Amino acid sequence: MVKLANRVEKMAGVEIRVRLGQRTIRLRSRRGQILSSALLEAGLPLRLYCQGRGICGQCLVRVSPGPWPEESPAERKFRLEKKLPEGYRLACQFRLRGPVEVWLPENLLISQEIRPFSRPELKTSQKALPDFNPLVKKYRLNLLSLKAGPGAGLPTNSIKEKISAHLGLKQLDITPAALNKLLELRPGSGLLTAVVYDEKSVLDFEPGDTVSCTFGLAIDLGTTTISAELLDLVSGQILGSAAADNLQAAFGADLISRTGFALEKPGNLRKLRQSALSSVENLIGVLSRNAGIRRNCIYVASLAGNAVMNHLFLGLPVESLGQAPFQPAFISHPPVPAAETGLRINPRGLVYLSPNLGSFVGGDISAGLVYTNLTGRPGNFLYVDLGTNGELVLKKGKKLLATSTAAGPAFEGGGISCGQRAVAGAIEEVKWQAGRFAFRTIGGKEPSGLCGSALLGVLAESLKTGLLAESGRILKGRAEIPVCDRLALTQLDIRKLQLAIAAVKSGLKLLLQTARLNWTELDGLFLAGVFGNSVNLAQCLALGLLPPLPRRKIFFAGNASLAGARLLLLSRRARLQVEKLPSRVEHLSLAGRQDFQSEFLKALALSRRYWRRTDV
Ligand code: FES
Repeated sequence: MVKLANRVEKMAGVEIRVRLGQRTIRLRSRRGQILSSALLEAGLPLRLYCQGRGICGQCLVRVSPGPWPEESPAERKFRLEKKLPEGYRLACQFRLRGPVEVWLPENLLISQEIRPFSRPELKTSQKALPDFNPLVKKYRLNLLSLKAGPGAGLPTNSIKEKISAHLGLKQLDITPAALNKLLELRPGSGLLTAVVYDEKSVLDFEPGDTVSCTFGLAIDLGTTTISAELLDLVSGQILGSAAADNLQAAFGADLISRTGFALEKPGNLRKLRQSALSSVENLIGVLSRNAGIRRNCIYVASLAGNAVMNHLFLGLPVESLGQAPFQPAFISHPPVPAAETGLRINPRGLVYLSPNLGSFVGGDISAGLVYTNLTGRPGNFLYVDLGTNGELVLKKGKKLLATSTAAGPAFEGGGISCGQRAVAGAIEEVKWQAGRFAFRTIGGKEPSGLCGSALLGVLAESLKTGLLAESGRILKGRAEIPVCDRLALTQLDIRKLQLAIAAVKSGLKLLLQTARLNWTELDGLFLAGVFGNSVNLAQCLALGLLPPLPRRKIFFAGNASLAGARLLLLSRRARLQVEKLPSRVEHLSLAGRQDFQSEFLKALALSRRYWRRTDV
């Protein structure tokens, strides 16, 4: 009887009242389920920095009093670090044993909101590119004049030859599906439109004139954020541009944790693939609706993602990226039928992938290199993309050398007690003024945390004012550096930031050393990525994060990966350039360097003096 009662109670489940800002959401869940899993199932995915292993302390949420087991020592430690009162529990460890009310900080929730953004290029035509030659073009054909339609009795090769000659394209291939469609078209159909991929392959024949309906997507498949643009491939106009959180964040903040999750058990790879696909699908939905076009008119997506993202998006195993020597399963990948990827664009459409350049230096970087025309510039240049992974490329003369360095989530506020992502309410800029920190928040909202640019700012300003030693030790007998009410950097936070900074500095130094180049011989440095473009340069240089080049030699490249994906969509010259990159780039494995550890230790000092004119 008792057993039956328990079963009934289990089936009835427990009620969760989620307080999210001004909203209250009521959910039901299974008794005994972990809170974060219950929220995920209900469509409220949380950002689980450590994959819910209970070791990062980032998922603390306030819960109503109840018959809960006592807080664990780890929970207590994290709560006290954040100066929170009792009643805060780790959402990834908290088991639901009865009805509960949960107060969810908005920045813990992975936003499913699509954020349209305006770019200076928006609505302007890209036709002015020196080589405007989109990946997909359409050609009008007259079936009657070709005498290649049904009933003509021509062998396949003759049809191909006739169509190639008619379109003025050599060695044109016709996919079997397109050929069947051509043969099925009614006799006397007259005008039809050939959909041609990269002047090489006919993907489809469409009845009538559909030339004006030819669209494509440029996608930056980022670990944290996915950005996309919708383009008219006839006029070259950017019709819309938007970004969304990568829903994979529910399974880990960075590439290492996502790879680990994928390898943990069968089925996880599918979850990761599905999450990325949902994020991209949501973006396509909003972009196409806003532009008033049908998805069926989108024939191609040019995708720039790092090696892990590329693998996960295609559903390829990531074993080789999870263990030394961390090799991707592919460098260059042929275009993939959109239907195979799960993307709901024209089913005959294709996905073009910017090639990987080596372990953890992926298609986002190859796209960025093409966008900044790094290989076409005379001289010595650095390309630096900062994020959870720092990707670094050095061009010395004609030589290209690349490496990646695991900075971890600190630059995105992850794992830092007062850190948060760059969303509304995050402090993004700090300055020491009149004996205290003056700051600016995103959207002018009440401060709720510090994002990466402000975290670096606090370190740099604290160094300047003597609150912090170059060793990273907090001075003046303080235990922490207060920024404003309830927000302060602890000694542990500073150590984590030091590790991230040192990872980048030592990676850059070893790259230069390998090429036998002193930083003073650099002609320029491109800073790519969202984080890189939000930092205060003077503060970065004060920490020694970058070589101390004069300001005129440092260029902010913006989201170079997205701009590169756009270029690859529109320019044949860019595609030829990117396809040659893998054979030109030499990969430097930092883990394989004997001197990496000693260089890393030297780089821990927060000082621009790390960069010496006598280096190399
Ligand atoms: S402690 Fe919960 S996600 Fe890390």
